[in-house]
Amino acid sequence: MDRDRAAWWQSAVIYQIYPRSFQDSNGDGVGDLAGILRRLDYLAWLGIDAIWLSPIYPSPMADFGYDVADFTGIDPLFGSLADFDALVAAAHERGIKVILDYVPNHSSDRHPWFQEARRSRRAAKRDWYIWRDPGPDGGPPNNWLSEFGGPSWTFDPGTGQYYLHSYLKQQPDLNWRNPALKAAMEDVLRFWLDRGVDGFRLDALHHVVKDELFRDNPANPNFRPGMAPHHLLERLYTVDRPEVHEVIADLRRIVDGYGERVLIGEVHLPLPRLMGYYGVGGQGLQLPFNFSLLKAGWTPASLRPLIAAYEAALPAGAWPNWVLGNHDSPRVASRLGPSLARLAALLLLTLRGTPTVYYGDELGMTDVAIPPDQVQDPFEKNVPGLGLGRDPGRTPMRWSAKPEAGFTTGAPWLPIGGNLAACNVEAEAADPGSMLALYRRLIALRKEQPALTLGSYCGIDTDPRCLGFRREAAGDHLLVLLNFSDDTCPVPFAGRLLLSTDPAREKIDILGPAEGVILRLA
Ligand code: GLC
Repeated sequence: MDRDRAAWWQSAVIYQIYPRSFQDSNGDGVGDLAGILRRLDYLAWLGIDAIWLSPIYPSPMADFGYDVADFTGIDPLFGSLADFDALVAAAHERGIKVILDYVPNHSSDRHPWFQEARRSRRAAKRDWYIWRDPGPDGGPPNNWLSEFGGPSWTFDPGTGQYYLHSYLKQQPDLNWRNPALKAAMEDVLRFWLDRGVDGFRLDALHHVVKDELFRDNPANPNFRPGMAPHHLLERLYTVDRPEVHEVIADLRRIVDGYGERVLIGEVHLPLPRLMGYYGVGGQGLQLPFNFSLLKAGWTPASLRPLIAAYEAALPAGAWPNWVLGNHDSPRVASRLGPSLARLAALLLLTLRGTPTVYYGDELGMTDVAIPPDQVQDPFEKNVPGLGLGRDPGRTPMRWSAKPEAGFTTGAPWLPIGGNLAACNVEAEAADPGSMLALYRRLIALRKEQPALTLGSYCGIDTDPRCLGFRREAAGDHLLVLLNFSDDTCPVPFAGRLLLSTDPAREKIDILGPAEGVILRLA
């Protein structure tokens, strides 16, 4: 892949900001846009090319912004449209692109559209949402289940029908089969594109179109206790309906009218179906998120086939991407432990494809235990005790060892957690051995070396305790070797050391326990 011909989002490192938790500027304990603006220099220093902001729109915050009450506004908690414009301008001045979260599947039940729709069965916007008569027993119209527990239907006494919600009952699903709704949602994209936004992360995209006949979902034979209750059913008729690809193609056409903008999709599906979201002939998403590392076993034996299967499944011309953490998952440093988390950073930033870094993972932030009376996440409140709550991985960014980690001067909306003296930006920026220093060196190296940015990928046979692959561009061969074991491991390749996860490493004949390296092959 030629650097001159590549799109910006192919060589970019994307950084996810959860705005509530990044930087508070007014002491209310919740992060905001002015706070993000203040920290852009940090992101530029780290080498980030694009920020994706989780929702910042007006919202009752039942699902912390994923319940949108106005798709073209800014919640006062985060600031104003003027703050947003200032943030985009300041990001662009630093060469940083801005990607917004677009939530097509549902709105808030407080959205004026839904308020109007629920007024009567004949309301003009009634059909902008999905309404059904009660089933024969007066209960829900079919067996569909909400991702957040319970049925995905709620009865509306005022009009005597049920409305559909794939998530919370405060998040009624929009009806993309209605042309007026579709046009209104497409105008939302244009609104933000006209304001200079560089792309969108499309939320829960596989949910957007449902079965026209509202057929019951079949039982899931693979359900096991401990899984979220909606897994009781296979989501045959509620996700990944064929018509979703028409919706995406229309969104893509709009975005393409604005030059080089990007569509990234949150799509949770098995690999072959995920690949369908690249679309036929480039009419789909540029980057359907690849979440495979979030659930992977961190052994060479499980990662090797996982990477090979992903690479092999990519349609012709499709560009890969990798995700190591996000606001819906436990922190990578908690999933893997501190030493493997360093290896994971090296893997994320050397694999072929656009990496997305979740805020705070570059510090090695871990999950923070949330006392029961401080739980915020509705998922944990609805389905308690299964460890599904997402608050532990959404805690405030740690800027310094000051009280409240320099995140706020007030009371933070989620606790800061322990180990603050060592795990914060200020301390780690001064320590060449820190996780932050590793991320920064990896990002810089990825940019300097065309083989890492856009080069080809080829897995290699190595010691079974290790994972190894080559990246190549214009005759330049780099080797990435990661030792997942607690033992040392010989390096049977001659080459020059470009980077090691061990900051003290000088000579490279042997890999230490949980050490990863990048070599230039002789
Ligand atoms: C997506 C978001 C998640 C949200 C859900 C409902 O999965 O990532 O945070 O709760 O959609 O909008």
